[in-house]
Amino acid sequence: MAEQPLLNTYGRLPVVFEHGRGMWLYDTEGQRYLDTFTGIAVCGLGHSHPGVAHAISQQAERLTHCSNLFHCKLQQQLAQRVCDLTDMDGVFFANSGAEANEAAIKLARHYGHQRNIASPAIIVMENAFHGRTLATLTATGNRRVQAGFEPLVSGFVRAPFNDLEAVEAIARSNSNVVAVLVEPIQGEGGVDIPDDDYLPGLRRICDREDWLLMLDEVQTGNGRTGTYLACQQQGVQPDVATVAKGFGNGYPIGACLARGAAAKVFSPGSHGSTFGGNPLGCAAAIAVLDAIEQDALMDRARILGERMLNRFREHLMGADYIEDIRGQGLMLAIELTHPCSELVLLAKVQGLLLNITRERVIRLLPPLTMTDDEADYLADQVIRIIKLYAADDRDRPRN
Ligand SMILES: Cc1ncc(COP(=O)(O)O)c(C=O)c1O
Repeated sequence: MAEQPLLNTYGRLPVVFEHGRGMWLYDTEGQRYLDTFTGIAVCGLGHSHPGVAHAISQQAERLTHCSNLFHCKLQQQLAQRVCDLTDMDGVFFANSGAEANEAAIKLARHYGHQRNIASPAIIVMENAFHGRTLATLTATGNRRVQAGFEPLVSGFVRAPFNDLEAVEAIARSNSNVVAVLVEPIQGEGGVDIPDDDYLPGLRRICDREDWLLMLDEVQTGNGRTGTYLACQQQGVQPDVATVAKGFGNGYPIGACLARGAAAKVFSPGSHGSTFGGNPLGCAAAIAVLDAIEQDALMDRARILGERMLNRFREHLMGADYIEDIRGQGLMLAIELTHPCSELVLLAKVQGLLLNITRERVIRLLPPLTMTDDEADYLADQVIRIIKLYAADDRDRPRN
């Protein structure tokens, strides 16, 4: 049932949140909920982070927007900070993950045209998620996202994820390829962590073929997996990387980062965005970086992630309803043996907000700012709910 006058695009839980703080959300009835996925990896510093709130309110009083027809000091500061963290050379600011990926896709096509490839193609992966605009939903490897929106955009070639040989086979048969676009860990695709040699292998193929390696770090970036970009754990330097989600901790800002030849592809008029990189968003994103650095949040993500994984393994591993427990930093997954969408409502009644992806993967994306005690508490609540659900499920009649 659509809520008038909103278009009917979301199935929503029956709850209205009024404010949030850290890992807690409070509804209009005064009930509090433990948020295990921070607005789908957006509020990496927790809800209503004081440093970000202060930066936004201060900047709102000074200047919110002036357009990209002028220089913007905050944009340059933010771009420099991000380049220093990632060893990239240049930044295009967007307002979302899909827009950051659109910029990457356009950049790759332009790169191809500059090499006289009239019909450039980008390799994308099965089960990938890159956004909901036409090009990014085409790049997305999920028919449910695409169905009903045909004709899709041309110029994408699909390969299975974590399969270097499949990419090699495309290299042998398709001379139009100019880039590979891939998530270092597939988020919507079920927190699928590839083999350690996958990204380095893609890097080698891209170098050999003169393709751009474009990493969608919209969900994995901003320190969530324990390094600023997840690829830094494999020592892989992309040509293009995109970030969004946690970049502004809730203020909508994304970025497409480019390096080397890729950073020289665009020229004035190639691409643009009215709102992209406005002073308000840049102030928010700078405050996020300040907090990540001052509070050593990338280290905390690594430490807390290990701590939670151990706790989950200790209490859940071996149970007949558990398929797998995995994660990197604070991008964690508990995969059950069968679909578990009812778990979301059960957890909500118990004051816990859970996210399920790929039907049976409980995806946990808690804030990097948790204390050890908070992380233990959150893990214990998740364990409690899963056990409760498993016990309930056993009693449920099967048809
Ligand atoms: C890896 C990845 N890329 C892109 C997107 C799209 O980002 P947005 O919803 O901000 O457009 C998402 C969103 O879930 C994502 O997880």
